[in-house]
Amino acid sequence: MLMTEKDDKAEKVFYVTTPIYYPSDNLHIGHAYTSVAADCIARYKRMRGYDVFFLTGSDEHGQKIERKAREQGITPIAYVDPIVANFKRLWQRLHVDYDDFIRTTEPRHQECVQAIFKQIYERGDIYKSKYQGWYCTPCETFWMERQLQDGNCRDCGRPVEFMEEESYFLRLSKYQDQLLQYIEEHPDLIQPVSRRNEMVNFVKSGLEDLCVSRTTFNWGIPVTFDPKHVVYVWFDALVNYISALNWRPERTDPRFERYWPHVVHFVGKDIVRFHTVIWPIILMAAGLQPPQAVYGHGWLLLEGGKMSKSKGNVVDPLVLTDHYGVDAVRYYLLRELPHGDDGHYTEENLVERINTDLANDLGNLISRSFGMIDKYWDGTVPVPGYYSMVDDKLIRTHEEARRNLEESLDRYDFCGALAAIWQLVRRANQYVDETEPWKLARREEMRERLGTVLYNLLEAVRVLTVWCTPFMPIFPDRVWEQMGIADRPDLRTWDSAAIWSGWLAPGSKISRGPGIFPRIVDSEDEGKGADQAKEKEDPVSGRQAGPKPLSKLGEKPEITIDEFARVDLRVALVRQVERIKGADRLLKLEVDLGSETRTVVAGIAQHYRVEDLLGKRVVIVANLAPAKLRGVTSHGMILAAVDENGLGVLTVDRDLPPGTQAR
Ligand code: MSP
Repeated sequence: MLMTEKDDKAEKVFYVTTPIYYPSDNLHIGHAYTSVAADCIARYKRMRGYDVFFLTGSDEHGQKIERKAREQGITPIAYVDPIVANFKRLWQRLHVDYDDFIRTTEPRHQECVQAIFKQIYERGDIYKSKYQGWYCTPCETFWMERQLQDGNCRDCGRPVEFMEEESYFLRLSKYQDQLLQYIEEHPDLIQPVSRRNEMVNFVKSGLEDLCVSRTTFNWGIPVTFDPKHVVYVWFDALVNYISALNWRPERTDPRFERYWPHVVHFVGKDIVRFHTVIWPIILMAAGLQPPQAVYGHGWLLLEGGKMSKSKGNVVDPLVLTDHYGVDAVRYYLLRELPHGDDGHYTEENLVERINTDLANDLGNLISRSFGMIDKYWDGTVPVPGYYSMVDDKLIRTHEEARRNLEESLDRYDFCGALAAIWQLVRRANQYVDETEPWKLARREEMRERLGTVLYNLLEAVRVLTVWCTPFMPIFPDRVWEQMGIADRPDLRTWDSAAIWSGWLAPGSKISRGPGIFPRIVDSEDEGKGADQAKEKEDPVSGRQAGPKPLSKLGEKPEITIDEFARVDLRVALVRQVERIKGADRLLKLEVDLGSETRTVVAGIAQHYRVEDLLGKRVVIVANLAPAKLRGVTSHGMILAAVDENGLGVLTVDRDLPPGTQAR
């Protein structure tokens, strides 16, 4: 359990952070895990009455960004701005409801980094010397010769560059023993325990002073007292956790006073070392308290290992959420990564989870419960009658599941927490099978008993919906609406779900709506749903057909041949090309389609010279709705494929007449 809860019983304060993300255009489903997990715990703590501050952001400096921007012929800020805007869109889509988003390019952050750097320098723990060693630019990490793995970066395996430059150093070595003692005295600092052991061994193996400034590039925060140096990107990035709280050496700020150090940093296992060694030492050297907890989660792996653009195994969270829904994707992520360990993504797994856990178990429980109320109790909350052993079993499971759920969430074990919720989901479904309300409904003398059973089912749905809210924030509102308690926040508080029964007023209206979690149907499965529904004598199982799985590549939803036939692809001969004033990336092309010539605007200016395109036969989408780009109307779109090394337009391999249709 977090110290926050022990120490601040009166003042329940909870500060949670994600790492600040590197601007890359391939934020994938693995990245989304950290943010969804942090969002889930923030929502949970809010429901438990905590004053929560949830921070995320973007880590925008460093040599890597400077190089990428240069390759594209634009400034670093012009390079990062649209990517950061995309991050924000993604978090919004996933309902990651942060309180603040910090960018390391903001003045409030830069001033804070400069202040803490200077403060540590003045206290004597940053000093100037000469760096000689190896640097991994993709990871922005320094390595000693002996730390390299086969001459490459120890973390990512990519080649390193030799560096020799005058630099400032942070005295990590001085703090080695102090840090070990701190870790020992604060068992919550590094979680789960397996990561703690790893880090203790790492620190014991010896800490070398860390190079914390660079002089060979400019895209960073200048050291105030020696401006040819910029602050090392990891030093700069870690400080975001306090710059967002307005920390400054010379003043006290209410935000900082309130939330620091009651923090849990959610991070992936690859960056635990930065957060549990470098970050606490930066803080100690500045005379500040280390963070209260760092939780290092595992990775979501795809075939071939960790997702990365160079491996081409990236899964786009936007595509998944568009197809399967936000709640389902969040559920999958939080259910699939076991406590602190890695999980494996496959689309089959995702569909299996949706169909089994969400559609068959939870969705079916909700819709059969509402269905039976509708059918047997005139769509109103029943009057509970007498209780029996089978009811006790349900209520005992509720109690046990609640304990497991809360204990799991206290140790950030989301997978365990969902397993606990599903204890009750399964018991409630068994309860239906055991009590057979459809049989009770046939006998007038069992009316009172039927009332108890239906009331308990409604109660199970209410409790489960409350418990699921931090994990899946969207569907609960639909349940509250169907239950007729959308305007009763008191019936959906965490505390109200701890007490079974007595909350719903008999006689109030229940209006059964469409199913909450439709099944994903595979074409081979179509038609089987009806048979499955007949397996039991349950007349209102409420199974529904939903979307189809994504195609094997996992990129976009599967379409039929008819749907594909709606796209009019044509061979187009490029007759004229010109640059568009004020738009670095755009070219205006006049293309010949046989029966007509059209204007098409394409974002390929950085990849092709005008003369390379003239006379080329490209492929265009001819029936795309016209769009105006920088004042020029484009009547179609040129197809192209992009990878890390650039872009290639699609062409045909013989001189087909312009206007030929591609199918
Ligand atoms: N910019 C640094 C963090 C600085 S914090 C002071 C960084 N950024 S990142 O964009 O590369 O990664 C952000 C988070 O995503 C990290 O916690 C990382 O571990 C996580 N993940 C990246 N790929 C992942 C998976 N495949 N699975 C789970 N988490 C993954 O690191």
